[in-house]
Amino acid sequence: EAIELGPYAHFMQKEIFEQPGAVANTLEMIFNIHSISPELFGSEAENIFRDTNSILILACGTSYHAGLVARYWLETVAGLPCNVEIASEYRYRNPIADPATLVVGISQSGETADTLASLNYAKSLGHRHSLAICNVAESALIRQADLRFLTRAGPEIGVASTKAFTTQLASLLLLTMTLAKMRHKLSNEYEGKMIAALRHLPAALQLALQVEPQVKAWAERFAQKRHALFLGRGVHYPIAMEGALKLKEISYIHAEAYAAGELKHGPLALVDNEMPIVAIAPNDVLLGKLKSNLQEVQARGGELYVFADADSQIQESEHVHVIRLAEHAGLLSPILHTIPLQLLAYHVALQKGTDVDKPRNLAKAVTVE
Ligand code: G6P
Repeated sequence: EAIELGPYAHFMQKEIFEQPGAVANTLEMIFNIHSISPELFGSEAENIFRDTNSILILACGTSYHAGLVARYWLETVAGLPCNVEIASEYRYRNPIADPATLVVGISQSGETADTLASLNYAKSLGHRHSLAICNVAESALIRQADLRFLTRAGPEIGVASTKAFTTQLASLLLLTMTLAKMRHKLSNEYEGKMIAALRHLPAALQLALQVEPQVKAWAERFAQKRHALFLGRGVHYPIAMEGALKLKEISYIHAEAYAAGELKHGPLALVDNEMPIVAIAPNDVLLGKLKSNLQEVQARGGELYVFADADSQIQESEHVHVIRLAEHAGLLSPILHTIPLQLLAYHVALQKGTDVDKPRNLAKAVTVE
């Protein structure tokens, strides 16, 4: 059936604003339960998860970035070793497979050729079980995997992925909680807290969307730039990568993401007052470290654009611009910090007049190698 734009100018804009509902749909099953169970991932999940001693995530593009975020969660909350691989690279390496490593394929379309091939390859190397996290119920990926979890984002039309990403993250957090519980790493109290936090997520996303006017004002300055640097640390480093990807995909501004601790190993040489530097700076365990990285940027005359949260305590000054999300969201913070970055890319692209929904040279699903 035809999908209408409604009051929106572009599908990407519509899909950005649909995120509270998309995440609510994806997490619908936890709205009425008091405890998490492996059945959320299929009837076989309990047996397979019991057999799982580590995780291998395979994906491309934005879905790969979701996997990178999940690695932090799986290690920290579930105590599970986790590798995340670009599918097109993994399929041509000779990795050593552990049969008890659960392979997780993440894909919006479920039709990305490299992701499908990498999953088959993992199986041929001896991995016993696989899980698909996917947005399309009748896709090849869903058919191929032993376990499946549907992100219920609804059809995503804009080539640059938005709501698929945040629903993938919500699903991966649920997976983390499930595995943590089975491994006795989740107290009842913490489980209750996490369920409450996930239920609150749609409302928190709605609040995050309210920064749009501030982001729009920043976008006017970005539109003149040719390069941008995105910085993050820890779980927010992949969010910086996703922010840079969004910007380059639709505005054609060369954007690169760096783990802020790596600045002094190269990118600091690029910093001058011409290049905007975007930092993802919520109040997490690495905020202190990130702040000293940002001081290095400032000392070289860099113009900083900082996405912070209620607790970050970063002050505005002449060359430091701050947009603050209303809440500090703990584990959910990477999901919320995605929103302003999507809005930034969207508004910069609008300023530049590019084809937002169909950027040049890119396809929605890459079904051939
Ligand atoms: C293409 C799309 C991206 C997407 C990537 C992986 O490059 O333009 O938005 O992230 O493919 O797609 P998948 O459907 O596997 O998530």
